[in-house]
Amino acid sequence: MNVLVIGGGGREHSMIKKLKESKLVEKLYAAPGNGGISRDAQCVPINDSQIEELAAFAKEAAIDWTIVGPENPLAAGIVNAFEKEQLQIFGPAQEAAIIEGSKDFAKRFMHKYGIPTASYQTFTDAGEAKAYIREHGVPIVIKADGLAAGKGVVVAETLEQALAAVDHILLDIEFGSAGSKIVIEEFLQGKEFSLMAFVNGSQVYPMVPARDHKRAYEGDQGPNTGGMGAYAPIPDLEAAVVETAIADILEPAAAGMVIENRPFSGVLYAGLIETSDGPKVIEFNARMGDPETQVVLPLLENDFMQVIIDVKAGKDPELTWKDAACIGTVVASAGYPGAYEKGRPLPSLDGAEAEGCFVIHAGTKLEEDRYVSAGGRVLLTGSVQQDQLAAQEAVSRFLKRFDASEDFFYRRDIGFQQNTEKA
Ligand code: AMP
Ligand code: GLY
Repeated sequence: MNVLVIGGGGREHSMIKKLKESKLVEKLYAAPGNGGISRDAQCVPINDSQIEELAAFAKEAAIDWTIVGPENPLAAGIVNAFEKEQLQIFGPAQEAAIIEGSKDFAKRFMHKYGIPTASYQTFTDAGEAKAYIREHGVPIVIKADGLAAGKGVVVAETLEQALAAVDHILLDIEFGSAGSKIVIEEFLQGKEFSLMAFVNGSQVYPMVPARDHKRAYEGDQGPNTGGMGAYAPIPDLEAAVVETAIADILEPAAAGMVIENRPFSGVLYAGLIETSDGPKVIEFNARMGDPETQVVLPLLENDFMQVIIDVKAGKDPELTWKDAACIGTVVASAGYPGAYEKGRPLPSLDGAEAEGCFVIHAGTKLEEDRYVSAGGRVLLTGSVQQDQLAAQEAVSRFLKRFDASEDFFYRRDIGFQQNTEKA
């Protein structure tokens, strides 16, 4: 089969590496892909927002399956457009992708179906939002309603921060229509984890849980980022909590979307927090997580393409997970998530396999025969080993090659904070 993966980040590179192992896949394409991906798939220079061009390409190149990585094309209706043209595609339709695209929708939906989440209220008026914040006090969480690339959430510890966040999101044009509504919610305390599942209508097939590290610096300090590293599974997460999350969150969410006439097909991602009251939802995503995918897919024993085909056909997929630990550490451009330079040469990445590691590219470009940086998150180095400690050691050994460079940084504590309150 000819398979097209939409997107060009680490998540998509990870999907492509897994698809390369599939016996069903003959030729792989990525749109737009990145420097590292170009070694594993044929990159096509079409952006994920160019839906018509993507559909035209899928026909022309006789693509049998298209797999969508990022949220924006899903929210823009790429699945609806492809299916109208009888093109097979994996991901939720626009009406189902709203579970990620509108936090207001997601909150009302969870409330309606009794899915545990922080209490909340939605506002379009800054004055009313501020009055609500004064009444409820801090800490409190302020979120832009729409897609804001992870930048639309402020966890305010002081009243000043909270009030400033209201103005910033509602009145600032930075967020465009994503910020015309805000959701203000209760601050939840506990360790976070991500649980993804293959979903088709009310059928739910969970993956292994993973933990992301959102803050830029060690010890979970500094600004929020797209994710600086992850690991799976989570040794300190009890199986009973995962079972509860499946039964009380993922399954009712899938069933609820069917009742709402927005049946979900694809990967449903629940960002969860383990509170003293049980797991609660921080957010739903309508796609695989980044960087969670990069540490979950290497643990999958089965043929990823076959899993997708089975899920989509309403058949139970075979899902077996390696009894091992995977850790992935992101190397970012100095300055990220603020301003950073592009085009910086990377050190040689040779020898990863011999060192028990793998390298997933996010923001790289191939210039002649060497890689240069092309984004904030540049790459992720991961390792699958018998236990987490061994995986951490392998990754940190490999990443030493970045230590001499001032152009890049990475967190040396991915996986180390399991025993602290906030992960
Ligand atoms: P998001 O972009 O929605 O994943 O949120 C970014 C981060 O904000 C999450 O990973 C949490 O650490 C934090 N966060 C979001 N909502 C809450 C909440 N209700 N209580 C505590 N922390 C939250
Ligand atoms: N790792 C968080 C996300 O993919 O949204």
